[in-house]
Amino acid sequence: MNKKPLLEVENLTVCFKTEEGTVEVTDHVSFEIMPGEIFGLVGESGCGKTVTALALLKLLPAPIAGIAAGRVMLQGTDILSLPPEKMRHVRGKAISMIFQEPAAALNPLLNVKSQLMECFDYHPFAGDKERRVRELLQRVGFPDPQRIFASFPHELSGGMLQRVMIAMALIMRPELIIADEPTTALDVTVQAQIMELLVEMQKELKTSILLITHNLNLIAQYANRLAVMYAGRIVEKSDLDTFLQNPLHPYSHGLLNALPDLNAEQPQLKAIPGQVPQPKDYEPGCRFRERCTRAFERCIHKPDLLRVNTAQEVACFLYTKET
Ligand SMILES: Nc1ncnc2c1ncn2[C@@H]1O[C@H](COP(=O)(O)OP(=O)(O)O)[C@@H](O)[C@H]1O
Ligand code: SF4
Ligand SMILES: [Mg+2]
Repeated sequence: MNKKPLLEVENLTVCFKTEEGTVEVTDHVSFEIMPGEIFGLVGESGCGKTVTALALLKLLPAPIAGIAAGRVMLQGTDILSLPPEKMRHVRGKAISMIFQEPAAALNPLLNVKSQLMECFDYHPFAGDKERRVRELLQRVGFPDPQRIFASFPHELSGGMLQRVMIAMALIMRPELIIADEPTTALDVTVQAQIMELLVEMQKELKTSILLITHNLNLIAQYANRLAVMYAGRIVEKSDLDTFLQNPLHPYSHGLLNALPDLNAEQPQLKAIPGQVPQPKDYEPGCRFRERCTRAFERCIHKPDLLRVNTAQEVACFLYTKET
């Protein structure tokens, strides 16, 4: 097995300019994605998942947002330091993205064919372009590509639009797909179909996926490894099986407890009391402290993310000896 990571995110720190001054929305975020794996990034809404994804591709809204520190290495190249035209080459070709709202990501004035064919304007492609697109559309579940070619986004359902987005993301055979809440806007039955399709395509094309979601169920079903994000920081990293058997961080316990037990007679959802703080209110110490039932004196300090066994890293003083 190839042990070299495909993508290494190192200490990625994103700042936003707000009326109250500059705030750090992510704090030294680090994780790595191996070739062909599904890596889950999970955390409640507002934890900084989307900001992290946008930062990876230098798509943060300028000038209010910027990368204050960190590197993103794609197969050994620091992509954040690439000039704009080389970065455009990375986007869509090496790394493509699927968003939560396909309707917002597509142009309402262009039919599906024009939007899919537009991808070739940015990247060289040897071969029959239209055939490639037709084959992909069939592959994602449109037996009659000509009909879909002529359709405009408003004529398609959410599930169909997400299939078009998946086809679009795959045109250039990317190494990595970033899927940010890819099924959150869809009905539950369609959600499962879209996830199955995404995973099938990932296996077939040996692509890696960064699966970003607030829904730990999706991660538990599909990811190989995961990182748990809370208030702009990674608080736990683990392979999936170890995590499900032995979660470490109190926030991870909270997320797992909040999953409904489908075997129970009356499945109940036990949400974690309290809320994710706003970046302007981030504390210098452990940011989960206000919601943590196990907090103690040391937690007013910042816990570092430390390796505790071969499979897991955690940022919590329950797992470190006082020095
Ligand atoms: N354009 C923006 N301006 C100011 N703050 C923002 C902007 N976009 C996101 N944020 C803030 O950054 C934090 C992380 O947001 P986001 O990455 O969207 O979270 P998630 O994807 O985990 O739900 C949130 O507190 C959010 O309010
Ligand atoms: S460091 Fe302290 S407050 Fe933070 S999660 Fe661990 S026990 Fe809870
Ligand atoms: Mg988000």
